Amino acid sequence: GSIALIGAPTDVGASVRGASMGPDALRVAGVVEVLRSRGYGVTDRGNLAGPPNPGQTAHNGLRHLPEVVAWNRLVYDAVDEALGRGDLPLLMGGDHCLAIGSISAIAWHCRRQGRELRVIWLDAHTDVNTETISPSGNLHGMPVACLLGHGPAPLVGWSGERAALGAGDIDFIGIRSVDAEEKQAIHTLGLQVFDMRHIDEHGMRNTMSEALHDVHENTHLHVSFDLDCLDPADAPGVGTGVRGGPTYREMQLCMEMIADTGRLGSLDVMEINPALDVRNRTAELAVEFIHSLFGASTLVR
Ligand code: ARG
Ligand code: MN
Ligand code: MN
Ligand code: MN
Repeated sequence: GSIALIGAPTDVGASVRGASMGPDALRVAGVVEVLRSRGYGVTDRGNLAGPPNPGQTAHNGLRHLPEVVAWNRLVYDAVDEALGRGDLPLLMGGDHCLAIGSISAIAWHCRRQGRELRVIWLDAHTDVNTETISPSGNLHGMPVACLLGHGPAPLVGWSGERAALGAGDIDFIGIRSVDAEEKQAIHTLGLQVFDMRHIDEHGMRNTMSEALHDVHENTHLHVSFDLDCLDPADAPGVGTGVRGGPTYREMQLCMEMIADTGRLGSLDVMEINPALDVRNRTAELAVEFIHSLFGASTLVR
């Protein structure tokens, strides 16, 4: 199998416009060349074509629900097709609401193949809001809730079960912005959150050893990488940046440790917003971390 690049140029799940330009920013930054340099076969499947951003306000606590459903349906089908071919899907977002479609398709395949799905969620945010508690109504703040079986009905149950993921199947890294009621939800659901304070106190090495401790030969590891996980000083091209992220080297080590497991099965690269970026710096940084994730090592020995 080779790596299948899937572009999903939309920002319907966000309030700040521009993440729709993320896929081309990654191409311009050389994502295909970097993956080929690691010895992978790469097929760029091009961009999906979904509905435009209608620029509406939230209805019943949700903004652009029909458009978010339509885009996620396209993502689900593209990821499903890639996995069916035996390829490793690399979703280029697009805002983070699209992780509903990608992870649901992956969960369906994993169950069918008797593999265990584990998700590493690299983000400043936990994205576990629902329509009843979200302060914004933006669906990019809700994908994890949907995958756990708690979002709006049209976005729940896509993997064939009510919940694509159990609470123990996902670990969050880099968290530093959680809404008040979202914090409640995290405790109620029993989610494992490695927030920035945990990384400060234990270091990235111990944090990732903990997050990856139960990865084994039969694990399909999915990484959902929201570029706002990084510090906005390094990655200015994001719509909802929060200061105080992991350093360049901490994030690189995180990627290297995931690569070392040899179990990476799929990847989302989300929330790159070229309209807010400086000379494509954020997409270039994303490509550097993708390089590490696919095995480029800083080890000399
Ligand atoms: N918690 C905020 C909200 O729900 C921000 C979410 C940001 N999510 C993201 N994928 N960038 O509106
Ligand atoms: Mn985020
Ligand atoms: Mn865990
Ligand atoms: Mn996110």
